[in-house]
Amino acid sequence: MRLADRPKLIASGENLYRRVERDAASHWTVALSDPAAVYGERITSVGEVVLRRWDPSRSKLAAALSNGWDGPVPNAGQTWLYLGAATGTTASHVADLVGRDGFVFAVEKSVRPFARLLALAERYPNLGPVLADAREPLRYLPLVPPVDGIYLDVAQPDQAEIALANARWFLRPAGAVLVALKTSSMGRGRNAREHLADAVGRLEPALELDTPVPLEPFHRRHFLLAGRPTRALYGTPVTPGRTSKPGPRVARRR
Ligand SMILES: C[S@@+](CC[C@H](N)C(=O)[O-])C[C@H]1O[C@@H](n2cnc3c(N)ncnc32)[C@H](O)[C@@H]1O
Repeated sequence: MRLADRPKLIASGENLYRRVERDAASHWTVALSDPAAVYGERITSVGEVVLRRWDPSRSKLAAALSNGWDGPVPNAGQTWLYLGAATGTTASHVADLVGRDGFVFAVEKSVRPFARLLALAERYPNLGPVLADAREPLRYLPLVPPVDGIYLDVAQPDQAEIALANARWFLRPAGAVLVALKTSSMGRGRNAREHLADAVGRLEPALELDTPVPLEPFHRRHFLLAGRPTRALYGTPVTPGRTSKPGPRVARRR
């Protein structure tokens, strides 16, 4: 295909571009770091703007966008709390999206990926790595201010409770919670849809959820759940734990 015939990259947010090619959409973020590439992704440019391809097979958030999700994507100038940042593959794109006037607090509990996250933060002035367990938000309460959004990708059986425990402490009332739900981490004996219904039941009293977005074919048995806080979120303590026992864990207000 000649360069002039290629489908154009169209801005779909301040720092997000989209290209539709043969019925499939690809997404690109405006590179904040120089050199631009973080994990071997493709780089291109539109005029002076350098773009990084957001690989949907490497990032659940990109997979949701590829599957047509149009929910609350991180925006320029916002502050996000990212739980389960690993080496920073997706966190780097979130940092691109919030841009120089925004900030991403990136929590990771394992030392090995955290070392690479620290190295990435040398190139991303708006990325703050936090070595901590996301089950213990009080440990980083002194570091992290109220945030516009929380993205969670921890692959743990109590991922719903971890999301709520953090949302309760950090999320602004107009903010958004995004959960990359890995149902295969929620125990055996149930299928993905049953685990999804269970997670929705745990989250729903405290969050008003959009329709879940399946992340197939990029991530098997994963869904993206997006929600906004209800008043119940701020009134109810949540204790993350290691079990995957069914049933809501969020006590209702009396
Ligand atoms: C699926 S990987 C995250 C991939 C990453 N979000 C990305 O898209 O680039 C899950 C990560 O969550 C981390 N993790 C698991 N439980 C955690 C917890 N309780 N607190 C903080 N990080 C946790 C793991 O160490 C692992 O690095």
